[in-house]
Amino acid sequence: MARVFFMLDEIQKAGSDFDSALASANEVKALADLRVRYFGRKGGLIPALFGQLKDVPKEQKKEVGDALNKLRDRIESALKEKSDRATADESARKTSRDTIDVTLPARMPHLGNLHPITLVRQEMEKIFREMGYSVDPGPEIETDWYNFESLNFTPDHPARDTQDTFFVDVPGMLLRTHTSNVQIRSMEQTKPPLKVISCGRVYRRDEITMRRSPMFHQAEAILVDKGIHIGHMRATLEYFVRKIFGGDPKFRLRPSFFPFTEPSAELDMSCLFCNGNGCGTCSQTGWMEILGCGMVHPQVLRNVAIDPEEWSGFAFGMGIDRVAMLTYDIPNIRTLFENDLRVLQQF
Ligand code: DAH
Repeated sequence: MARVFFMLDEIQKAGSDFDSALASANEVKALADLRVRYFGRKGGLIPALFGQLKDVPKEQKKEVGDALNKLRDRIESALKEKSDRATADESARKTSRDTIDVTLPARMPHLGNLHPITLVRQEMEKIFREMGYSVDPGPEIETDWYNFESLNFTPDHPARDTQDTFFVDVPGMLLRTHTSNVQIRSMEQTKPPLKVISCGRVYRRDEITMRRSPMFHQAEAILVDKGIHIGHMRATLEYFVRKIFGGDPKFRLRPSFFPFTEPSAELDMSCLFCNGNGCGTCSQTGWMEILGCGMVHPQVLRNVAIDPEEWSGFAFGMGIDRVAMLTYDIPNIRTLFENDLRVLQQF
C-alpha cells in the first residue's frame, strides 16, 4: 500500500515538476531537451515510472497504471502543443528577418548636388546660349598681355600692382584678375560678328572679408558686330539681369571707367529686397550695383586687328559669387568656399 501511495505521489510530483519546467522552456531547443528528460529511452522519467509498475501489487496496478497513462498523455500533448507553437514562432521570426520587403520604397544613393556657384553659372550660360552666345571659360593662368596690356591697361596702371595681382613663377605670367582676358582671346579666335560668354575663377590679392575673397568668380560677355550701339548693350543687360533675378526691377547706367571700354558704365538695379525704398542690403540707397560694362574701346579692337570703323561691340563683367549670395540669401562669401556639407546639401 505504502508503495502505491509512494508511486501516486511520485506521479503527481512528476506532473507538477513538468508544469514548472514547461513554463520556463520557451525555445524549440529547450522543449526538445524537456522531451528527452521525460521520454528519453535511457533515463527518461516516464519510461522509468512505467518500469516501476511491475513492483506495484496487482490490485493497485490499474489505479497507478491509469494515473501514469494520464500523466504521459498530458505531458505528451502539452509538449507537442508548445513545441509546435515555438517552431512556428521561430520560423516566422526567421522569415521576417531574411525576406526582402519588395513594397518598401528604394533607398536612393546620395549623389551629391551642384554648388550654388555652379547653379548660378549654369543659369547665366543658359540665358546667353539662348541668345546665341557661345561659351568659352578661357585660361586662369594668363599672360600680362591678355590680362592687362591688350585691354588698354597702361604699364603704370594701378591694377598691375603686386598688391592686386598674383604673379606666378614664370616671368610675365599671372593669375587672371578678371575674365576680360577672354574678350581678347575670343576676338583673336573668331572673326566678327561674334558673341561669347565666359564664366570662371579670377584672383586678386584681397583680404578675406564677408564680401571679398582672393579667389572669386566672374561672368563676362562680349558681342562684336556691325552697327552695335549702347542701346543694344542696355537691352541685353536688362533682359539678362531680369532673367537671373526675376521680378521687374528698374535699371540705371552710371558712368564709370574701365580702360578697355569707352564709354564705360556700371549697371545698377533697384534693390531686390526693398523695391528701391532703401534698406540695409542696399545701404539705404535703393540701388544695387550689378555689373560693369561698356562699348569695346577702339584701341582694344585694333589690338586684335579688328577695324573699329567697321565693327563695334559691347562687353560686360559681373561677379557670380555676389549673384549667388543675393539669390540664396548668403550673407558671407566664405560660406561659398568652406564646403560645409550641411550648407551644400541645401541646394
Ligand atoms: N573686368 C572688370 C572688373 O573685373 C569688369 C568689367 C567691366 C568687364 C566692364 C567688362 C566691362 O567686360 O566692359 O571689374
